[in-house]
Amino acid sequence: MIEPDASTDDLLEMAEQAPNLTYFAFAKNAVRQPAPAPTQASVGQLPQVLAGRYQLEGLLGAGGMGTVYRARDLLHEQYGEPSPYVAIKVLGEDVAAAPDASALLYSEFALTRHVRHDNVLRLYTFEVDQDSQLAFISMELMRGLTLDKLLCERPGGLPWNQLREIALPLLDALVCAHGRGVLHGDIKPSNVMLCDEGVRLFDFGLGQSEEGVLDGLPQLSRSRFNAWTPGYAAPELLDGQPLTSRADLFAVACVLYELAEGKHPFQRVPSNLAQAQGLHLSLRAPRHLPWYCWPALRAALSFDPQARSITAHQLRQAWHSRWAGARHWLGHVQVRRG
Ligand SMILES: Nc1ncnc2c1ncn2[C@@H]1O[C@H](COP(=O)(O)OP(=O)(O)OP(=O)(O)O)[C@@H](O)[C@H]1O
Ligand SMILES: [Mg+2]
Repeated sequence: MIEPDASTDDLLEMAEQAPNLTYFAFAKNAVRQPAPAPTQASVGQLPQVLAGRYQLEGLLGAGGMGTVYRARDLLHEQYGEPSPYVAIKVLGEDVAAAPDASALLYSEFALTRHVRHDNVLRLYTFEVDQDSQLAFISMELMRGLTLDKLLCERPGGLPWNQLREIALPLLDALVCAHGRGVLHGDIKPSNVMLCDEGVRLFDFGLGQSEEGVLDGLPQLSRSRFNAWTPGYAAPELLDGQPLTSRADLFAVACVLYELAEGKHPFQRVPSNLAQAQGLHLSLRAPRHLPWYCWPALRAALSFDPQARSITAHQLRQAWHSRWAGARHWLGHVQVRRG
């Protein structure tokens, strides 16, 4: 985990150690390392059945904030449900120790539910197990590959026809979230899954709602905690600025570039350091990306949030249609001439 004033060396070291993990820190008592991933054995430390209903069966994954288990919904099974499997998310031990940690989990639940889109993970319930006082979310069990695992299998990136089938639904999900006033805050390959049923964006744990949306929801103060994934957070987030839709655009653009090229656009160097090192100057269009997609993607990869004015909808349009992409291309040529 990263303290607000972590040094450059610290950032680089941590980015190398766990480039895909979210670093979560209550600012006052930041712990410097991500919690070790739990093993199958640690399932035994949790109640075997949560809320008298969800039988935990195995570990699905763990990140910087939470741990996700596969479970059987015994109630639905009792009524003959042929596929009673769900996923259960609980907070990791370090995070759960904070007094208002379950508000974090509830916020994730409420934000995700508010989006409601085919390409966003479906959440079922937020509950607290009475005996253990453990808060948890029950949700759709995804079967498939997260994009970080897909990239391991396809180190050279994906051809355009396959990339497009991931990029458009992912951007659809983001367009919908932003349209509903929800910011994701942590878009990265391990928070997107390519499932049997299609693409799913998930893990809104660092998300926020825009003013006037979900007003009753506790707003998590970034002056009190800091959380980000070094390789995907926009420079302004790393500099302590508030989350905006432009920061989501930067993150999704890093993911799309990585899928197209097989490599992260800035070698996963934290973006404020990449900016200082001038890495954007050597940025080239990914090899297999059609020409009309590049200007919009390049705009979304801008380090300066003022220059990154493209919306998720515009990026989606540019990738969907040659004509919309060509408009960005013309703008790009004019900017380069001017
Ligand atoms: N509904 C689900 N079905 C199947 N697997 C899931 C599900 N939800 C999460 N996972 C797996 O668990 C991993 C961790 O989940 P999640 O991203 O929600 O946790 P996190 O601690 O918030 O992660 P981060 O480090 O990104 O903050 C995912 O990358 C994925 O592999
Ligand atoms: Mg995650």
